[in-house]
Parts: sequence; structure tokens; C-alpha cells
Amino acid sequence: MTSPRTTLSLVDTDPAELAVDAIVIGVHSQTTEPGSGAPAHALLLASGGESIAAAFDGKLTETLALLGATGGPGEVIKLATLGTVSAPLVVAVGLGPEPAGAAPAPESLRRAAGAAVRALAGAPRVALALPLPDDADAPAALRAVAEGALLGGYRFAGYKTKPQPARREPVAEVLVAVPDAADSTAQAEIARAQAVAGAVRTSRDWVNTAPNELRPPAFADAVSAAAREAGLEVEVLDEAALKAGGYGGILAVGQGSEAPPRLVKLTWTPEGGGNGKRVALVGKGITFDTGGISIKPAQGMWEMKSDMAGAAAVGAAMLAVAALKPSVTVTGYLPMAENMPSGTSYRPGDVISMFNGKKVEVLNTDAEGRMVLADAMARACADGADYLFETSTLTGGQVIALGKRIAGVMGTPKLCERVRVAGDATGEPAWPMPLPDDVRKGMESDVADISQVNAGMDRAGHMLQGGVFLREFVTDDVAWAHIDIAGPGYHSGEATGYWTKGGTGVPVRTLVHLVEDVATNG
Ligand code: BES
Ligand code: MN
Ligand code: ZN
Repeated sequence: MTSPRTTLSLVDTDPAELAVDAIVIGVHSQTTEPGSGAPAHALLLASGGESIAAAFDGKLTETLALLGATGGPGEVIKLATLGTVSAPLVVAVGLGPEPAGAAPAPESLRRAAGAAVRALAGAPRVALALPLPDDADAPAALRAVAEGALLGGYRFAGYKTKPQPARREPVAEVLVAVPDAADSTAQAEIARAQAVAGAVRTSRDWVNTAPNELRPPAFADAVSAAAREAGLEVEVLDEAALKAGGYGGILAVGQGSEAPPRLVKLTWTPEGGGNGKRVALVGKGITFDTGGISIKPAQGMWEMKSDMAGAAAVGAAMLAVAALKPSVTVTGYLPMAENMPSGTSYRPGDVISMFNGKKVEVLNTDAEGRMVLADAMARACADGADYLFETSTLTGGQVIALGKRIAGVMGTPKLCERVRVAGDATGEPAWPMPLPDDVRKGMESDVADISQVNAGMDRAGHMLQGGVFLREFVTDDVAWAHIDIAGPGYHSGEATGYWTKGGTGVPVRTLVHLVEDVATNG
């Protein structure tokens, strides 16, 4: 199931003369001094919109304010141009207060571009004339605008059998107004944004696909087909290969379902081996999480179709890697299983022999993510990874601790900090969390090497229990980071900025950024 695509290109024509269905400009909110006689809130035109404002004889911001514009973030106000400029519609998107003497932050631009393109569904061709700095920050700003536009233009195709006349088609073509459309740096940013946003959209598609259509064998097929087309090396371990290889954790979780588990391995090898470093990306691919024998309550269980968001992000990030060709070896590991209650399910009390030989006592079959990840991470270490980034919708504790937007990061402190920086740069915030000794003590098992959760089923520090457990499956010489995206991986509310309802594609952009970081800086 793929969504309709949006294309994007650069223009350097005067925005007032662009023959498009709508032209998007930015506006800032401005709070004026009390008692100065000026209205309490004034609207400020952002750079990029000057020629449009000129065509309105200086009355543009005044008119937009009359229509209710305040310049607040995410606000979209449409104005018919009645022949003043070539486009029939001007769309003012709010950017919030103007940062003193600086261009708006990339994430403000990303959200504004996303909100504008989303609001313009139904218009085939639109142009964005947003404020872009002309200094060293220009590439990051252009990247943000391009990504925001492509992601705000995302819509999941869905399953409706009848045509939906009231539903307006996503924008098909976006033009981004820049000073010089032939500039090679700008063109490279557009190409990169297309690859990265394309990957984010693919991961959203996989997450949004109904879970009956994306059980492990089908998910493995979908990822393999996309990866082969992108030129990656693909290896799929089916249930027989998993058994032969000793992947006890993946098999235990998968054994309750009629649809057997898989481990998909995707590899990008740069010419000449690149800088010699190996990056492993590991993503949780539970295609549906009922909880298993430790079954979840019915309320909200449907959202557990998103429990493969980590694997979707890793698979999609690998597609972007294939397009961007970084000079570092990158291998994606996607352990896939469906966590179901049945007569063949694994059960609380089971002791599982994992890929690295460690024995794990199962206490709660709903802590299934760490079981499949542990095997995949141990395999990544056995394959010789230098850096291991793992991401998963692992714990409700992440949502309690950090909310729906900020991922929790645990692992080697230096690498956690690199993840935080990458998240900051890409607009996918992530925050480092500790791996305390007392949490590990609480996971001592009477019978096995480690319990899967706190031995007394104490939920205290429950996000950290996940990290502490996964650490047992990483060899000492490997720098690793676990990125818990239980909150940020899925957006159940209404669309906002460049976030549409459903899968968000977090942390595809972070993973791609990290791969490029390692390719450049080792
Ligand atoms: N997939 C869930 C975590 C989750 C919760 C993701 C909410 C997205 C939104 C995970 O497999 C799970 O069930 N975790 C348990 C862990 C517990 C049994 C130790 C949880 O969060 O309660
Ligand atoms: Mn679970
Ligand atoms: Zn789960």
C-alpha cells in the first residue's frame, strides 16, 4: 500500500510571477509595547514574501490580519489574490515571533512548510516563498523546508472501496523559491531531502498498513523488495534459519502466531569499504503486539499495529542510505514477529536460550520487544559492528517519562549524546537516560542469567529496565544506543505541522543523520 507521491524542485523566478495554484509566504507574530498606541499583536512579513507584499501595495499584512492572521506557529490563512500576482491564492503560514536578528529555526520552517502543504491539499501545484538565510545556515533551512513540504504532503492511501469526492488530493508538485535554482549546494539539499523524506513516507506507509496485511512474512517481503530495488544486499532468515541459528528470543515471541517470524538483514557496502567503520541499525518489528499470554486490555490495542515502527524506520533509513551512498558500511537488522496468545505461545516462566547463549527468564510475555531485539543486537555484534543504533516502541514508560515527542536514549554515554545532537538537528528530539545498577539488580533471576523485567514485576524505572536488559546483548567493544520511540513513533491525534495521523517516521531522519555523522567523523 503506497501513498501518492509529491515532487519537489527549485525555482528562482520572482514569486509574484509564478504560475502556480498557490504561493506560500511566511508571517511572524510580533508583540508590541503596551501603551505604544500600536495594536497588541502586529503581523510581520517574513523575508521571501517581499514581491508579493509589493504587489498588494503594502496592504498585505493588514489584510491578512483582518482575516485573522496572528503569525502563530502552524497558522494557515488563505487570501484570494484577485489578479495582483500570478497565483490565484496567497497562503500565509505562521512562523511565530521572529528570532532576534536571525532566520527562523529549521524546525519552525519544517513545521510551517508541512502545515502549508497539508492545508493546500486539492491544489496540484504550489510554490513556497519562505524565509531562507543566505549564510552558512542556508542548507539546513532549505533542507527543513523541503522535508516539511514532502512530509506534510503525505497521505496514507488507505482501504476505502468508494471514491471520496470530498477528499482533496495531496499537493502533487511543490516549487521552492530560492535566490539561485542552479546552485549546486541547494540542488544537493533537495536531492537529499527527497531521499530522506521518501524514506520517512515509506516508513509511515509500513506503520499505517493494517496489521492483517503486514504479518512478519509479508513485512519481510515488502522490505526485501524495496531494499533490492534500492540496490542493497538482502538476506532473510525464515523460521528454519532462525532455529538453526539459535535465535531463541525471536522464535519464542513468534511461536504463538500462525505467521512465522523473520529476521531481515540489509547491507549497504560503500566502494572500497568507505572509512572502514561498520554501523548496525536494529529495529523492533512486532507486526502486532497483543501482549501474548500476558494479554493487553482491548482499549487502544489497535495502535499496537505500530509496534513495528522501529523496524519500519530502520528499513526505510536503509533505503535512504542506498540513495545517499555514505562512505561507511551500514547493516540494518529487522527482527519481525507477531506477539499472539495461542496454544503455542511462549509463557511466563519459560526460560529462553538467546542467540548469544544467555538464558532469559520470561515473566511477562508483553515484554516481547526486548526478546527479539536482544537476538538481533547480539547478531549485529557478532557481525563486527563498531556502532549499534537500536530503535523500538519498547515501553509505555518512555511515554510516561518523556511524552509523545521526545524519545528516550540509553547506552554508551558518548553515543547517546551523539543521538541527542542528531535528534536536535533533525527535529526528532531524543533525551539521554541512565542505566542504573539498582535496576539491573532488580532483574536478577532465581533460575536464569537475567529476568526479562524486574523480578518482582515492579514497574519502577520501567523504560530503564528495557535499556538495562538490552545492554546484556551488546559486546563490550561496541558503542551502542537504544532509542525508545513508544511515544514519538506514532501520532494518534490530529495532523499538525508535517506530522500526519498515524506513523510519524521517527527516527528515520535521526538514523540517516547518524550514519552520515559516522561516515564523516568516524
Ligand atoms: N509495544 C509495547 C510498548 C508500547 C506501549 C508501545 C505504548 C507504544 C505505546 C511493549 O511491547 C510493551 O508491551 N511494553 C510493556 C513492558 C512491560 C510488560 C515490562 C509496557 O510498556 O507496559
Ligand atoms: Mn508488548
Ligand atoms: Zn511491543
